[in-house]
Amino acid sequence: MNEYCIKYGLNEERLPQHVAIIMDGNGRWAKKRLWNRLVGHRAGADAVDAVTTLCREIGVKYLTLYAFSTENWNRPESEVSGLMELFKEFLISKRNVLVEKNVRLNIIGEKDKFSPELLKLMNETIEATKQGETKMVLTLALSYGSRQEITQAVRKIAQKAASHEIDPGKIDEKMISESLYTFDMPDPDLVIRTSGEYRISNYLLWQIAYSEFYFTDTLWPDFKKEEFIKALQDYAGRERRFGKTGDQLKK
Ligand code: FPP
Repeated sequence: MNEYCIKYGLNEERLPQHVAIIMDGNGRWAKKRLWNRLVGHRAGADAVDAVTTLCREIGVKYLTLYAFSTENWNRPESEVSGLMELFKEFLISKRNVLVEKNVRLNIIGEKDKFSPELLKLMNETIEATKQGETKMVLTLALSYGSRQEITQAVRKIAQKAASHEIDPGKIDEKMISESLYTFDMPDPDLVIRTSGEYRISNYLLWQIAYSEFYFTDTLWPDFKKEEFIKALQDYAGRERRFGKTGDQLKK
């Protein structure tokens, strides 16, 4: 029995294996306090720490966070550069603790859109956390958009078909899944969106076909351990049918 599950009142048998989160509400959190939006993003980084720690403690193996979408490049230049600075700081300051705690960092999205300096930091942290045992995989979706991801997958598969490496008649769901950035992880069991918005915003569209959803009004910087535990308790009570009837599942 996991001591943290007992401590937090969670049923270990009914935990999701993969949680994906749309971290929304940093701007409004800052605005309410008459602060700059970037202060909200900084507070959001603390919530990232809290949620990652909880996953590691209780044994949620995969945590995927939507940190910057393909559309976020259109935000004011000062906000985009502030966020890039925050990602840089995160990659530098968290590297050792991620290694020490056996958390592997993974990044999905259009990595080539980032500055060479940030790209170097990303690759160094990814490499450093790849060594040794992996207890948990923390994935940051950066310059990520699901339609872009699916488009690049289709392109890859079409190229293979054009060069006769594969037979177009043999293209199946498995091949598509394996051509996505998430090829090496299971689909999310639970998707959480904070801040009272009910949208998917181009996030993991293929992968969330059978995911459970949890929406909360809490703004992301306030989404700490207690809020996350509530979401996990709610998930534990769900009946996942995957298209079957409730009676079929009981058998
Ligand atoms: C959405 O809130 C949030 C983002 C676009 C950025 C998410 C970034 C963080 C949580 C910063 C830390 C992350 C890491 C990995 C260090 P919003 O700005 O759209 O909020 P609003 O809807 O209230 O304006």
